[in-house]
Amino acid sequence: MARDPESIADRFIGQFDRALRTLSGQHDSHRPNPAGSVPEQPLEPAATQHAAGLMRVNHTGEICAQALYQGQALTARDPAVRTALLEAAGEETDHLAWCESRLDELNSRPSRLNPAFYAMSYAMGAVTGLLGDRVSLGFVEATEDQVCRHLESHLDSLPESDGRSRRIVESMHEDEARHGSEALARGGVEFPAPVKQAMRLLSRVMTETTYRV
Ligand SMILES: [Fe+2]
Ligand SMILES: [Fe+2]
Repeated sequence: MARDPESIADRFIGQFDRALRTLSGQHDSHRPNPAGSVPEQPLEPAATQHAAGLMRVNHTGEICAQALYQGQALTARDPAVRTALLEAAGEETDHLAWCESRLDELNSRPSRLNPAFYAMSYAMGAVTGLLGDRVSLGFVEATEDQVCRHLESHLDSLPESDGRSRRIVESMHEDEARHGSEALARGGVEFPAPVKQAMRLLSRVMTETTYRV
């Protein structure tokens, strides 16, 4: 394992600044928005509201992803693992930007609960990192597996005519599946079923609150 000259305190200071920027909104994406030229189709008010609720849940999911990856990077031991975690976090920034702009198009806004979910996820990520890099990578796989199922359920539920939201969710699904398989390939240990069950419960709290608030 290579030595890492940067202390945990140094990383924490940089990450505090990053947290404020994540929560303040207005993110730049490095890749073009997949909704690109997909035409905006007229939606009934109830359908618009439902699509906005789902995109708000996805947006908070991306806030949590940022926080988890930053927390895990804080306590990662191997610099190569830390770099991989931060690279994945970069792709999640694109997702954040795409969800943000879709919420805007739907005349809606991100969840007011985001700061609380960021703080909880950051702590969870940092503790997971302390359990060792292989556990931490396994946690990425378990999380992404859950995110993929959840995005699939959104594809079932989003209005058929909301092609712009659907295209964004499909693109995110491709990235999340890759993040999960890359984490396993880097040596992540598969998580036991009861832990996955507990994670599902936590994510249900998030999805049920942020759909409305
Ligand atoms: Fe994501
Ligand atoms: Fe991801």
